[in-house]
Amino acid sequence: MVFGYIDGGAGDGLAIKRNSLSFKKLLLQPKTLLNVKNRNQSKKINNQEFSYPFGIAPMGLCNVSNPRADIMLAQSANKQNIPLCVSTAASSSVEEIYKIASKNVWFQLYMGSSIENTLKLVKRVERAGVENLIISVDVPAPGFRPRELRDGFTAPFTFGLKQIIDCALHPSWAIPYLFYGKPEFAHNSGLSTDGKKFFERNSGSRLIPDLDFLRRLRDHWPGNLYVKGITSLEDAYHSINCGCTGIYISNHGGRQLESAPATLDLLKIIRGEIGNNYQILFDSGIRTGEDIVKAYSLGADFVFLGRPFLFASALGKKEYIIHLIKLLGKQIDSTLAQLGKTSIDSLTRDVIFGNDTYNYRDN
Ligand SMILES: Cc1cc2nc3c(=O)[nH]c(=O)nc-3n(C[C@H](O)[C@H](O)[C@H](O)COP(=O)(O)O)c2cc1C
Repeated sequence: MVFGYIDGGAGDGLAIKRNSLSFKKLLLQPKTLLNVKNRNQSKKINNQEFSYPFGIAPMGLCNVSNPRADIMLAQSANKQNIPLCVSTAASSSVEEIYKIASKNVWFQLYMGSSIENTLKLVKRVERAGVENLIISVDVPAPGFRPRELRDGFTAPFTFGLKQIIDCALHPSWAIPYLFYGKPEFAHNSGLSTDGKKFFERNSGSRLIPDLDFLRRLRDHWPGNLYVKGITSLEDAYHSINCGCTGIYISNHGGRQLESAPATLDLLKIIRGEIGNNYQILFDSGIRTGEDIVKAYSLGADFVFLGRPFLFASALGKKEYIIHLIKLLGKQIDSTLAQLGKTSIDSLTRDVIFGNDTYNYRDN
């Protein structure tokens, strides 16, 4: 059931396939006879320099993959110097994670059951020391995910016969939870009103962010503010007009709307329209260093990966997460060399094969 939760998406998973296909279809143009000896893939954003040009996307209840996943992700992000986005639905608190990864911690906000408590959480995140806030706007209702329904996955876990059998069949996953207990939402404490929990996954009690709230949030939050789940130009312009630092193009890894367009196609369109003076963060479907290079070539300012980090966490040691980071780094380094480039900032659309003829609409 946990594999289905992480791996699965909306409907039959066509949005996940579309994300992946859009990366596979885009080809890169090798360039040779250039001096590419000194390559550097560090990437600066908001005056902070990261050692790799990618980070860990916000994911709720990472600790379902392993009871120590949040902590291992924080230790790895800190050691390898990449950003880690902590979700409102995380199973460890932002303060706890900030102690490990300090300025590399970004926070992803979901609205809870009241505006007042949502803004209280924002204050708490600010007090913790976080400077980058991401508000996710693409969950007006939970995505329809048949694998979760079939397996009876609920968060936090509830146990019936099906789940008990599932645990019995996967002892190496299940046994650690006897010691650590089942993962819970870490940011609910102190934010409940009238006995209603601040954040619940499927109860329908969460508020849906609108433009008024976005303006209010902009007034409340002194740091950088990004709007995650942008898939249209109209929403991009709303975020720009509200004074947000940037948009975060994402279709939630294909988990919300099965017929959503691939984000790489959206990146090309949206960057083309809004120009180069506005930050775009990006995720959904990135699996390799070449994918990362493609996203930067089409105009991303920073990119994130979700599922690969949870699969690495599920292996149970932070060394596997660090291995994943280094592996992606090696792939990026090799790709830069093949393209005749020495840095991420030098990537432009001219590295795309047949740049003029590439037609994002032909899928
Ligand atoms: C298990 C899981 C939980 C997620 N939880 C959240 C969340 O709490 N908040 C959020 O904004 N996005 C969430 N996402 C979406 C990710 O932030 C990200 O957009 C997506 O995973 C990127 O696609 P990828 O997995 O193909 O890299 C979640 C994704 C997964 C796989």
